[in-house]
Amino acid sequence: MTKSQEFIEMEHQYGAHNYHPLPVVLSKGEGAFVWDVEGKKYFDFLSAYSAVNQGHCHPKIVKALCDQAQTLTLTSRAFYNDCLGPYEKYITDYFKYDKVLPMNTGAEADETAMKLARRWGYRVKGIEEDKAIIVCCEGNFHGRTISIVSMSTDPDSYGQFGPFTPGFIKIPYNDSKALEAVLEKHGKDIAGFLVEPIQGEAGVYVPDDGYLKTCYDLCKKHNVLFIADEVQTGIARTGKLLACEHEGVRPDVLILGKALSGGVIPVSAVLADDEVMLTIGPGEHGSTFGGFCLAGKVAMAALEVVKEEKLAERAEYLGKIFRDEMAKVKSDMIELVRGKGLLNAIVIRPKNGKEAWDVCLKMRDLGVLAKPTHGHIIRFAPPIVISEEDLRKAIELIKEAILSFE
Ligand SMILES: Cc1ncc(COP(=O)(O)O)c(C=O)c1O
Repeated sequence: MTKSQEFIEMEHQYGAHNYHPLPVVLSKGEGAFVWDVEGKKYFDFLSAYSAVNQGHCHPKIVKALCDQAQTLTLTSRAFYNDCLGPYEKYITDYFKYDKVLPMNTGAEADETAMKLARRWGYRVKGIEEDKAIIVCCEGNFHGRTISIVSMSTDPDSYGQFGPFTPGFIKIPYNDSKALEAVLEKHGKDIAGFLVEPIQGEAGVYVPDDGYLKTCYDLCKKHNVLFIADEVQTGIARTGKLLACEHEGVRPDVLILGKALSGGVIPVSAVLADDEVMLTIGPGEHGSTFGGFCLAGKVAMAALEVVKEEKLAERAEYLGKIFRDEMAKVKSDMIELVRGKGLLNAIVIRPKNGKEAWDVCLKMRDLGVLAKPTHGHIIRFAPPIVISEEDLRKAIELIKEAILSFE
């Protein structure tokens, strides 16, 4: 048995079977590259689902982690510490909101945003107790908690996990008329509209230009919070600091996670202004690790890297190269190339029984790691720090993998 096989066997035997990883066992990462336990080097084209935008083991972020880890890691929020306040000041200045509520995972941040929306609905908008509705979109992915899967339209996510949390209305994505109709009908009870600016997990569905702005304006008209889940799209991934910026939209509630820590530790956050944030008081929400000392230091370093290395501009520039090059590939396996910045996907048309999974295995053999989503779509999201030269090299390998099935 190879070393890789041993590790795969161990996970299979002792771990829950809640993932289906590509068979490759990684032991080291640096920048845009990862290495497997046998020492083979790969381009990482997933970036841990866009958590590693700043590149693997970014020295500045790792230094912030190590320095703080030797000083003070966790106090809980029972006491104050000298990391959280400076972090809160930094991140609210950075994204221009009054306040931040720190959590750990993306799902927790989404849950937090929904609690805030309901609270705001009762206390500020005046919705009758227990009547608040959150409108969400078909095809969404916001995480894995019971309430979040209650919003899901993917049977893999929600099947046999009921009974579900009430208070959601699901409408088609990229359909502002559907939002308008639901707001006209139920507007007085609707607290928030929760939306991904691009649906990442669904397969990088980019909505039509103007969709987010139209939805935002409709929300304003009906006194409904526009809640953007930028856990995957945020922090420079799509060519702007936030994907909502492409349409000049400033969400009322902004949800961030993943790359907020550069993929170093779980750090998520909800940002909002006082009218929303101050509806939750002491003892009404929180998490032992939410905003812990390491998180504050790591997130500040991760956000500094985004500015210092101009990652949004890089993603915009490199993303165009990726899509232009992929559009040139002459293979009937490529049904569609879509995306924004460095969040892209290729929709694969099966050929001779070969599917997206086979393409990913071939790419792995050639030294590029990516993963199918929903069977027929491959997402391509390398660390944004990748150099143009390396991106072009990887593109050639991706082309070679796809053309190998011709
Ligand atoms: C848009 C979006 N929201 C929320 C989440 C959940 O984040 P986490 O896995 O950290 O709970 C994800 C994860 O992929 C996501 O893409």
